Amino acid sequence: MKKFLDKRGSFGSRFGAIVAVGGSVVGLGNIWRFPYLAGENGGGAFIIAYILISFSVAVPIMLAEFGIGRSVRRNAKRAFQKLAPGKGWKAIGYLGIATAFVILSYYCVVAGWALNFLKQAALNQFEGKNILEINQQFNAFISSGWSSLFWTWTFIAATGIIVYLGVEKGIERYNKIFMPLLVLILIILVINSFTLPGYEKGFSFLFKPDLSKINGEVLLKALGQSFFSLSLGMGAMITYGAYIKKEENLFHIAGTVSITDVSVAILSGMAIFPAVFALGINPTSGPELIFITLPNVFQQMPGGYYVGVLFFILVFFAAITSSVSLLEVVTAYISQEMRLGRKRASIIATLGVVLTGSLCVISQTPESTLTLGGKNLVDFCNDFSSNYMLPIGGFFIVLFAGWVMKPEIFQSELTSKGVFGKHIYPIVRFLIRFVTPIVIALLFMDLTGLI
Ligand code: PHE
Repeated sequence: MKKFLDKRGSFGSRFGAIVAVGGSVVGLGNIWRFPYLAGENGGGAFIIAYILISFSVAVPIMLAEFGIGRSVRRNAKRAFQKLAPGKGWKAIGYLGIATAFVILSYYCVVAGWALNFLKQAALNQFEGKNILEINQQFNAFISSGWSSLFWTWTFIAATGIIVYLGVEKGIERYNKIFMPLLVLILIILVINSFTLPGYEKGFSFLFKPDLSKINGEVLLKALGQSFFSLSLGMGAMITYGAYIKKEENLFHIAGTVSITDVSVAILSGMAIFPAVFALGINPTSGPELIFITLPNVFQQMPGGYYVGVLFFILVFFAAITSSVSLLEVVTAYISQEMRLGRKRASIIATLGVVLTGSLCVISQTPESTLTLGGKNLVDFCNDFSSNYMLPIGGFFIVLFAGWVMKPEIFQSELTSKGVFGKHIYPIVRFLIRFVTPIVIALLFMDLTGLI
């Protein structure tokens, strides 16, 4: 961020703000989580639900977070303290910190898988292996214990070092190069898809939706995915909002970031599903979907060795700019609450993630009896954070922005004192006050069988 911050500690330009927020937003959520969820939840039907929810529910929350953050220029917990002193709203801040921690615990494990795949791609270890062998190799790896621990720790260490040294701002400037490269490589993979036998099946799975598949559960998963992918519901965007200049157009920033995020996710789906069908892989394979599909694709395409290595480097980069934004939240909290310097706080936060991340890895070994809600800890943390913690956080954030915060302050903040979005603002306000909280509440009631 620093590169983009001016003397007053704001992003120097709109582009700078978009690049920094984009670093947090684009990550494993787009490349890994979106495709496997789409595969499990009916393909096209899920995509429709996801797009609808992203733009009617999630984007208003992003605007609410930006507005809250920029109006007081504080991080999540402090922002609520300042805007509603003495009231319970700062609990949203606590929930956000807990959520960041739960997400980090499994995010680092999955990023560790990507690092291991980078190694295997670089050493050409997928060569000559068929789908079955790659699948077995992947399963052996995640249930291996030590090997998986090693890569998880490597990723946590990389994230921790960046936050410890405070160089996340320096790293973010590479987003300008790496993000377009990621998009480019996804486009190359999509083009390559057309050469695969039976690719049409993949595209029709994605783009010929069977609307009868949309039910409460699919909608709730789409909701969780759009929160996760847009880094919403835990206050990360409140912190970023605090760095956006007062005269900047928040609608423009939120619009650009969310369109980019949704596009990267859909591109990723288009890069994967034709291959899934061409290779006879089950689209409902779950979290391993991209890991078992892509090595086969790289093997078959011309220049696939280089494409594969570059792809996993870019996935690593996308993941680390997101994990850094998560570890920041936890570090800032520990530093404030325990009155510790940032460096010490970052060490404590990192060690905490080493512990919980390791438990997640151990819970995937065959001997393990570590489960929560009948799931191993990776699956539990993954599902619980996105399907429950983020939407609940988001629910209270919009209630706060729509019903508690002074309407004049909120309006003046979102519209930069009436300069931007005169016509959009009333719509956004309506979405924030009514649509977003009601949709979240209805989905939860449906889930718990109340309706
Ligand atoms: N949005 C990130 C991704 O898609 C994950 C994330 C969630 C980052 C919440 C920060 C906060 O990978």
